[in-house]
Amino acid sequence: MTQGPLTLVRMTSRAATRPVGTVTRGTTNPNRLRRMDRWIAAAHGTHLRRAADPVAVDLGYGAAPWTAVELLARLRTIAPRARVVGVEIEPARVAAARPYERDGLAFRHGGFEIPLPQRPHLIRAANVLRQYDEDEVAAVWERLCARLAPATPHSPGGLLVEGTCDEIGRRHVWVALGPEGPRTVTFATRLGSLERPSDLAERLPKTLIHRNVPGEPVHAFLRDFDRAWAAAAPYASYGARQRWIRAVRDLAADWPVTDGPVRWRQGEVTVRWAALAPRI
Ligand SMILES: C[S@@+](CC[C@H](N)C(=O)[O-])C[C@H]1O[C@@H](n2cnc3c(N)ncnc32)[C@H](O)[C@@H]1O
Repeated sequence: MTQGPLTLVRMTSRAATRPVGTVTRGTTNPNRLRRMDRWIAAAHGTHLRRAADPVAVDLGYGAAPWTAVELLARLRTIAPRARVVGVEIEPARVAAARPYERDGLAFRHGGFEIPLPQRPHLIRAANVLRQYDEDEVAAVWERLCARLAPATPHSPGGLLVEGTCDEIGRRHVWVALGPEGPRTVTFATRLGSLERPSDLAERLPKTLIHRNVPGEPVHAFLRDFDRAWAAAAPYASYGARQRWIRAVRDLAADWPVTDGPVRWRQGEVTVRWAALAPRI
């Protein structure tokens, strides 16, 4: 059972080291990460499709391999050559996933070192860093960004998508990072379940969750979003989607929103990281 991971580790320069990181709770659910998968396909699909050998890592896939299986299926609709490698630090979870290996899908024992011979075009780490300390996040981000496929004149390089969601994936917040560092923050929600945009605060990634306090940009952003949502109340008669689109349009007057109505219709909004980054 351990032959695969050991072989892979030997192929890297860190042959003798143990996986980097800590085993944490393995909670997962089928279809939990669908919003993140769809966003990745929309935001990064072209680059995956153009890559000669597009490799995506589902880092910390948990006690069952569902999210890796689903990521492969969704990526293949836009990048037919895409491969997914599920990387998990708990060896028993790797053994449990191995029967699900198939064309384009493999599972490896490993951690933040990413035990692959190549630099992946995508690393997705969902509900992994929430169980680490806030002061560990910067170093983990740096380490993972350094493992991404580098930028070239024809490509912005690999993408790290790191974030958090609730048990069934109705509320999600993630940060997208390139080889150079953080780029954007995306808020994604099932609109029918939303009372106000700041409901998403409980799903902020580790780097922002303790910063939802007065004086911090993410707090000001959610406050302004709630105000825009309240002002858009008349649109509720056309449905929560129309209300969200109207609220985001207003919000975009003051905040650097990077996407448009096509994504807003999905109950998403993406904002430049620099506008929400912690002050201190
Ligand atoms: C809460 S589960 C998340 C499962 C899945 N990603 C999801 O969102 O449904 C977190 C998983 O990350 C794994 N993990 C934690 N640190 C890790 C690391 N450094 N490298 C690989 N896996 C890690 C844990 O062992 C655990 O199985």
